[in-house]
Amino acid sequence: MIEFILLSRKGRTDGNFRSLREAGRLDVVYQCILFAFFTSGAIRRDVMFHAILGGPPRPPLHLIMDGRELRDVRTDEETWEKILRKVLSGGSHPGIYLRRESFQRFLRSISYRNIFVLEEKGRYIRDVEFGPNPVFILGDQVGLPKRDEAFALRFGTKISIGKKPYLAATCIDIINYLLDLATERKNDNRTAD
Ligand SMILES: C[S@@+](CC[C@H](N)C(=O)[O-])C[C@H]1O[C@@H](n2cnc3c(N)ncnc32)[C@H](O)[C@@H]1O
Repeated sequence: MIEFILLSRKGRTDGNFRSLREAGRLDVVYQCILFAFFTSGAIRRDVMFHAILGGPPRPPLHLIMDGRELRDVRTDEETWEKILRKVLSGGSHPGIYLRRESFQRFLRSISYRNIFVLEEKGRYIRDVEFGPNPVFILGDQVGLPKRDEAFALRFGTKISIGKKPYLAATCIDIINYLLDLATERKNDNRTAD
């Protein structure tokens, strides 16, 4: 499995909002979901996406999406606004779960995995071997909280896509692309053998 974790400092923790943007920037969470799971016409079943929501009224809340189980989803923002409002109001949707859990507690539970913290000043991504089942941690529109970044670096490596600050969703798209290329290369080598 490939896992992405987004730290959404202000993301609202109930379904009481007018729009994703006004819900502590849940629109950023939506954009990340889009690039974590969707290719043209298919869903990446080998991906899990996590958002740790730190906004009112009851933070922290761990939103979990499992690509193996996701159903009845589309790429438009309206669909996701409905899904997120429903789930955050206590309803259910296939492949989407909520857990009352902090970022640090969750990370501790997966600390044996290959963990990478996305940050502009990290090691250049093309020089890094991800290994099996990598986990990637990203900040929201503000960036990663220093305290959480320091905690994550106890278990992981800081990696960079380049000097430009990209949207968190763009970073996810680039990582998925690099992983796709690596898989294609591996398959081509197998065919050539
Ligand atoms: C919109 S950016 C935040 C930009 C914010 N100004 C900052 O200083 O962190 C959201 C997240 O995307 C990731 N990110 C953005 N650009 C990156 C880059 N060039 N290399 C690695 N990660 C990046 C980081 O995890 C960052 O916290």
